[in-house]
Amino acid sequence: MLSRKILAVVGTRPEAIKMAPLIRRLQAAPGFSVAVCSTGQHKEMIGQVFDLFALKPDFDLSVMQHDQRLSALTARVVRGMDEVIAESKPDRVLVHGDTTTTMAATLAAFYQQIPVGHVEAGLRTRNIYSPWPEEINRRVTDVIADRLYAPTETARANLLAEHVPDDNIVVTGNTVIDALFDTLNGPLRDPKIHKELEAKFPFLDGGKKAILVTCHRRESYGEGFREVCAALSELARRGDAIIVFPIHRNPNVRSVFSVLDKLPNVHLIEPLDYLGFVYAMSRCHFALTDSGGIQEEAPSLGKPVLVMRAVTERPEAVAAGTVKLVGTDTATIMREAALLLDDRDAYEAMSAVHNPYGDGKACERIIASLQEE
Ligand code: UD1
Ligand code: UDP
Repeated sequence: MLSRKILAVVGTRPEAIKMAPLIRRLQAAPGFSVAVCSTGQHKEMIGQVFDLFALKPDFDLSVMQHDQRLSALTARVVRGMDEVIAESKPDRVLVHGDTTTTMAATLAAFYQQIPVGHVEAGLRTRNIYSPWPEEINRRVTDVIADRLYAPTETARANLLAEHVPDDNIVVTGNTVIDALFDTLNGPLRDPKIHKELEAKFPFLDGGKKAILVTCHRRESYGEGFREVCAALSELARRGDAIIVFPIHRNPNVRSVFSVLDKLPNVHLIEPLDYLGFVYAMSRCHFALTDSGGIQEEAPSLGKPVLVMRAVTERPEAVAAGTVKLVGTDTATIMREAALLLDDRDAYEAMSAVHNPYGDGKACERIIASLQEE
């Protein structure tokens, strides 16, 4: 039997985390020959994911440049992907999410009339500047893709409202939950690995409540980051909680938040590999973040999330009560964080376990849909 050639494209940390379980399962499924292309939009941060999941890209475009600008990055990815697609001649390209890699790889496939499947399709805020540029990246991708793997019914409804044919949409759950469950039920179950993580992160021993922080969104560069930084300094000064902040490698992030390094109760650390980060999430009191993925993972672990963004494309966990939007205003962040630290009832109301983003079988559903084609 001839196998169908699938080219899976990733470029950044979250794409690699969310595509790794799918790629591994597709490689094991009959009827497919799977090639993996990393655009290298991220370098070290995607390398960590490849190492952890033992993935070796067949193509690596190594496009990352220091403090890269969007137009130049887009141009490098389109050009590089054009060559990879011409050489590998896939029957289908699979992309994920809403990064520049996602949108530019989709365009390159379209220019060679290769069908595109979009994993994590249909997320919307309806505000093209928040998140920026991701809202446009995912819309462009969804216009071109002919297989839309929507993580939730809300995402499906968003696509239907844009007149995407219902037959092209499959509601699958989010593959990040597959990655999370693989990690929780795999390496994190191993007592030896668990002990190593405890030794590596002694400050997560439960002595002081840990606030797990990440922050990187382009629309918050400058003033937004400065407001967040002021809130973190004040939270550290309380003395009854620690800030654990694996800081993104983006120089626009580091230039603002590096001042926190000198403060007591702050652990400003390098980006963690996924195993370390899942461990940190499972040990923290709550997460304070602007990340998309963490909004999806933390509810499955029963951890409240304060989201430092004006809007979110992930309304399901907000509706479930585990995620709250706090924006980047110092006073609002302080007020909501203090509530979770001081008010037991408020904390418990937000810390119930919810799985609005999946049951760990998203990859299975995507593969079943690919097999039906
Ligand atoms: C990108 C995505 C964003 C996603 C985020 C996940 C775009 C436009 N943005 O944002 O949607 O949420 O990844 O983290 O696609 N850098 C390194 N090493 C790394 C990674 C980044 O040094 O491993 C530095 C480089 O100087 C790079 C800069 O960070 O130029 C920005 O990287 P970029 O991918 O453009 O933006 P992110 O903020 O990471
Ligand atoms: N993550 C990680 N190490 C870290 C911080 C985050 O492995 O130090 C994981 C996190 O669990 C989630 C993903 O990275 O799965 C989120 O990536 P990021 O916040 O960079 O991007 P976004 O989700 O906002 O696009």
